[in-house]
Amino acid sequence: MRLIRVELGERSYNVVAGEGLFPLCAQFLREGNYSGKALVITDRTVERLYAGSFMAALRESGLALSQIAVPDGEEAKSLEWAGKIYDKAVEEKLDRRSPFIALGGGVPGDLAGFAAATYMRGAPFLQVPTTLLAQVDASVGGKVAINHPAGKNMIGAFHQPDAVFADLETLKTLPARDYASGLAEVIKTACLDGGGWLDFLLGRRDLIAARDLKVLGEIVSRCCRYKALIVAGDEREQGQRMFLNLGHTFAHAIEAEGGFRLYTHGEAVAVGLLGALALSEEFAGLQKNVRQEVSELLSAFGLPLTAGKVDPGRTFATLWRDKKALNNKLRWVLLKAPGEPLVKDGLPPEAVRETLAALLKDG
Ligand code: NAD
Ligand code: GLY
Repeated sequence: MRLIRVELGERSYNVVAGEGLFPLCAQFLREGNYSGKALVITDRTVERLYAGSFMAALRESGLALSQIAVPDGEEAKSLEWAGKIYDKAVEEKLDRRSPFIALGGGVPGDLAGFAAATYMRGAPFLQVPTTLLAQVDASVGGKVAINHPAGKNMIGAFHQPDAVFADLETLKTLPARDYASGLAEVIKTACLDGGGWLDFLLGRRDLIAARDLKVLGEIVSRCCRYKALIVAGDEREQGQRMFLNLGHTFAHAIEAEGGFRLYTHGEAVAVGLLGALALSEEFAGLQKNVRQEVSELLSAFGLPLTAGKVDPGRTFATLWRDKKALNNKLRWVLLKAPGEPLVKDGLPPEAVRETLAALLKDG
């Protein structure tokens, strides 16, 4: 079992990564300063796979438990489903010390966190991530949100969890596409953190593809440690937290143009990452071999290198609706070298258009 501390003063918390963690989560709840009730928020697939064993383990917490399952996928990150969670919380008479517990991927995590942030001006919140993407990224750092027709994650808050329990065993049942999606964020973190990470991943690609739990434990804890340091230094994304958006400017536009169905978040990140690295070669002096290594890794894990199903012109226009755009200028995270990210505002639109066109050709 591995423990990573997110240092945020009074709001500091632990991320625990390991196997068979449901009982530990129950113990944490039993020993915590909570009132007698808890609400578990999951999605329908995770409910079918894990709600039985999770709720059974949680009985040891001594809390009265209720649960709500939302539909799978982005459609659940909506005001409608946040409303259903508030209704359930009111019906079950949850108070300000009743924990909201997210069991599932980034979707239930973001939604449950958003509901917790706003219910009675802030209820406690625990994350039990069951996708690789949520274990290495979404469950840590306190960004919680729902979507608006005008854009993804447009309505949200910063609301840190009290703890994160990343049970690696749950990754065994993850569909191949969702597993690969999480690996895209892992590769992104490897680019940001440097320190031989890309070589580490390349050298273990077969073990990673086989979902070896020992290697996954190392990967989840290393990603969380990197994110914990970044978040501890810049919780509200005024500076270094922007680095975590490497590849995401292109990715968000590709995802949106694909109607959140054609490409998963991770698939869009894979393509967006290659775009950011191409721009980094031109505007930050990144050596070309980095993009080559990243392409090799993405291919090894079945991730796309191009996104030929979306239209370049429309995607280019969508780029400018990015939340990170300030005064109509896009903010880019680039890489000077692995481990050396930087932020640049307002790259020449023609260079961006050309890079995007190359990313969106049929692969
Ligand atoms: P997700 O939650 O939709 O999960 C993907 C699919 O996997 C779903 O169908 C789910 O039912 C299924 N699933 C989950 N766990 C499973 C398991 N163990 N076995 C089998 N199936 C399982 O998506 P995701 O990829 O985890 O997260 C994507 C979301 O996370 C996006 O909404 C994105 O915006 C958000 N996100 C948030 C942050 C953040 O910092 N808050 C960071 C990155 C991404
Ligand atoms: N996933 C980006 C962040 O948490 O800031």
